[in-house]
Amino acid sequence: MAVKDYIDTNDFTKEELLDMIELAQSMKAMIKEGGRYPLILKDRTLGMIFQQVSTRTRISFETAMTDLGGHAQFFGPGTIQLGGHETLEDTARVMGSLVDILMARVNRHPDVVGLAKNSAVPVINGMSDFNHPTQELGDLMTMIENLPEGKKIEDCKLAFVGDATQVCVSLMFIASKMGMDFVHFGPEGHQVTDGGLVVDKTVDIMAVAEENCKVSGGTITVSDDVECVKGADFVYTDVWYGLYDAEEGGESYMDVFYPKYQVTMDMMDFAGPGSKFMHCLPATRGEEVVDEVMDDPERSLCWVEAENRKHSIRAILAYLLLQHEAERKADEAAADEAEARMSAVLARIGK
Ligand code: CP
Repeated sequence: MAVKDYIDTNDFTKEELLDMIELAQSMKAMIKEGGRYPLILKDRTLGMIFQQVSTRTRISFETAMTDLGGHAQFFGPGTIQLGGHETLEDTARVMGSLVDILMARVNRHPDVVGLAKNSAVPVINGMSDFNHPTQELGDLMTMIENLPEGKKIEDCKLAFVGDATQVCVSLMFIASKMGMDFVHFGPEGHQVTDGGLVVDKTVDIMAVAEENCKVSGGTITVSDDVECVKGADFVYTDVWYGLYDAEEGGESYMDVFYPKYQVTMDMMDFAGPGSKFMHCLPATRGEEVVDEVMDDPERSLCWVEAENRKHSIRAILAYLLLQHEAERKADEAAADEAEARMSAVLARIGK
């Protein structure tokens, strides 16, 4: 039985994730090179629940469904009964009977887990306070498309600089799954070993990543010494204050992170002459990264990374939904009989 939902990349094998990348890259080339849209999700509907604002994720999901011949419905805060008096469980049950697949960007991770548990159709995590797995896949695709000469993904080093956001946690997961060397360069109290921004501290994210490393041969280093960035093929950063939690205890994030953890061209050069810059976006220019790095056409991958959100999300949608439908096994005889009944009624009303 295939995994029904895309909540956490740790639910998938390395091979399954690479299959998704292969699917994403093949469809990207079909569409970009030849204008050939694979209408493999024709007539299917995606329901999109957003409890938070979004540019890349919303547009990527909506466009991906259109590209594949389907349709997406957007439900922002205050537009459905969820959050009012209808429970998450009831919402999941109802929406799972009205659409073919769901995605949700939630305030708290247990909400997307609850949606998946109570929905008959696949659910995709569009970001929670724990992780950002669709970002992970797009980032993996971007790194694979920009490998240093002669290197495979498992030979590469990825250095995340700054705050242990859910994107940092997610990158640690995917890097450790792929067998990469993952580094978190961040200040004490904001390191991924402190649990990141995860509200549910019962999840041992380091144990999960270390288990991945045992299988893949990857490594994890966490340090507040800039030396750890040396040799990185990819230098990644994210905003310094998370997306959800206000500054704690009156601590100013600028005092904590600036200037040591700002990605500058000096830091990029220190990592290595060919190191590439990545950012999930949106960026706070002048804080975690300077313009010179973000806008450097040779070093910055953040724009292709944003575009790859759409290409990789197409693959996640198709991978999940088509597997789910294959397992349901269509009853052709019942469908034929129903179609005959429909035709009889249409004939009686003269259509
Ligand atoms: N990176 C990302 O998820 O962007 P949005 O918040 O704009 O969707």
